[in-house]
Parts: sequence; C-alpha cells; structure tokens
Amino acid sequence: MIVLGIETSCDETSMALYDANKQKVLASIISSQVDLHRNFGGVVPEIASRNHLIKLEDIYYQILKEANLTPKQIDLVGVTNAPGLIGSLFVGVAFAKGLAYGLKKPLIGVNHLAAHTLSTEIEHPNLKPPYLSLIISGGHTHIYYVDSAYNFTLLSHTIDDAVGECFDKVAKKLGLPYPGGPEIEKIAQDGDEKAIEFPIALKNSKNFSFSGIKTAVLNCIEENKYKVEDLAASFQYTIFRNLIHKLNLVIKELNIKNVVVTGGVSANGYLREKLTDYYKKSGITIYFPSKRLSTDNGDMIAYTAYKFYTKRVFMGLRETAYDVKPD
Ligand code: KG4
Ligand code: ZN
Repeated sequence: MIVLGIETSCDETSMALYDANKQKVLASIISSQVDLHRNFGGVVPEIASRNHLIKLEDIYYQILKEANLTPKQIDLVGVTNAPGLIGSLFVGVAFAKGLAYGLKKPLIGVNHLAAHTLSTEIEHPNLKPPYLSLIISGGHTHIYYVDSAYNFTLLSHTIDDAVGECFDKVAKKLGLPYPGGPEIEKIAQDGDEKAIEFPIALKNSKNFSFSGIKTAVLNCIEENKYKVEDLAASFQYTIFRNLIHKLNLVIKELNIKNVVVTGGVSANGYLREKLTDYYKKSGITIYFPSKRLSTDNGDMIAYTAYKFYTKRVFMGLRETAYDVKPD
C-alpha cells in the first residue's frame, strides 16, 4: 500500500510517499518558506497559503519522479486538516480532495499533533503505545497519553504561549532572525545556563505557562545587564526545567516507561541531550524523531494516514480543514 502524505499547516509545503508494506518512506520533499517570512519576523498567513498553492503541484510531480511511481500507484491520500493556519490548511485539503477524487482513492484527514507524535514510530519501529507524548512546537505545548494511534488523552497544555513562540519572541527581541529557536540554541552554546534564575510557573499544576518567563527574559534584555549568551543559555535551561517539572508530575501518576518528544522545538540539541541524560537513571526512555522529522513534514502525515486507515474514517468531499481551539 502506497500512501501520499500532504502537509501545509504552516510555512512548510511538504509531501512524502510511504510504502506501508515495506514500512519505508520512499521519497520526501520539505519545501520551507522561511526566507519569505523572515523579513516580517514571523509567518504571514496570507503569504503562506499563496505559496503552498504555487508549490503543491510541482512537489507532487517531483515526488512521484523521485519514488519512480505513477499517480495510479497511490492507494491512499492523507492530508493535515487541523490544527494550523486555516488558509494554509484549506489549500492543502483542497489539493488533496481534488487528487483523491481524480485518482478515485480514499482520503484521510490527519491531525497535525497526532502526526508529530506518531512520526517517532517511523524511525523507532519497536516503539508501541502506550506512551507519553510531549509536543513542543511553535503553536503547541501539550502532553498526551497515547493509548493507540487514534486514542490520545490530553493531560497537560499551555495556558498561554507555546515553547516555540517564546523562543521566537526572545530571539526577535535580541535582533536574531526568524525562526528564533535554532538561533537561540546557537548563541546559548557559549553561555552560562546558571547565570540568571528564571522561575517555573504554575508549580503545582500539570499545565504549562510561559508568558511570565517570556516577559522576564524580555525585561532582562531591555535592562542590558547580562551577556546575550548567558541570557540565551539561562532561558533554555529554564525551558528544560519547566518541561521536566511537568513531565514528572504526569509520570508520577502513571506507570509509564516511554516518552516521545516531538514538534519543532524538539530539534534543539541541548534539550535533547538534557532530557535524555535526566531520565537515563530512572528507567524512562525518551524517544525523538530525527531532527529532519521534528519540524513539519509530509512523512508524518503519510504514516499517520496509514495508521488511521484501519479505522476507515475517510474524509468526504464536503468536509474541509477546521480550526481547533486549545482544549
Ligand atoms: O513543529 P514546527 O515546525 O511548526 C509548528 O507546528 O509550530 O515548530 C516550529 C517551531 C518554531 O517556533 C521554531 O523556532 C522552533 O520550532 N524550533 C526550535 C528549534 N528548531 C525549530 N526551537 C528551539 N531550538 C531549535 N533548534
Ligand atoms: Zn508542527
């Protein structure tokens, strides 16, 4: 069974072809729009959707060529239908609907957060639910209990900013280009993570709050008292302490041994190392997707569509993308 996955929820236009029998991604293309948005210091939704529209058809033909397949060999189409920038989602879903209709193949709407989580399984085939999923991206900071590919229970979420959003805003204040996460990671390498102590918000709650930390860091930048490297390193260290604090509250209540960490911020090498080291002695294994699969990609959509296929919940031509409110 060959599955085409289409991802357009934010500023990456991506497609992948997954061979479910061989359990292998045959081809994958991620086309980033980051250069278009950099001048604006963040993603401009209108520019993002227009650019998806321009690129999708070319990427579709290019990926078939790379995998040496014809359109007729596609058995299933999967597309991100939520959550994300609604205009960008509409473009991907409209393309996928047209394609599925034309090819007379079933279409599955894929939740972007489920896909980030399940993407970890592509590279760790022995990883099976139940496990915990910590999603740290530009729009989300969630912890889910994953019972099966289609049974997720939300245990914790941010009540204000997402982790990635904080990285981006701190970087912007420091005059660093968008996206800020990788820039902060780079300069933090030369800083002292213990130089400045920032608090952990909502200490007794499993939910996250990052707006206080963000404001504290922005104020520090304004005061101009500290070295930029120390600020970046202390900020990253605070994010790490927040993540383990909330994870520990959840883990304490559940007998769980495996935790997956996904979403754009999980590409951060410092956080990967710290989280892995921290849980090493506790018998808890932390799984990450490769850095390429940490940010948005079509591979995770194709794989998740295949997982959902067993449920046979297909997307009708009257259905479309939808906006999800944080629960
Ligand atoms: O998952 P993603 O590609 O898109 C969303 O679904 O939001 O995540 C994008 C976020 C951005 O905020 C970006 O700054 C952050 O991931 N990010 C990082 C790193 N690479 C990307 N944050 C920290 N360190 C990184 N190395
Ligand atoms: Zn994402």
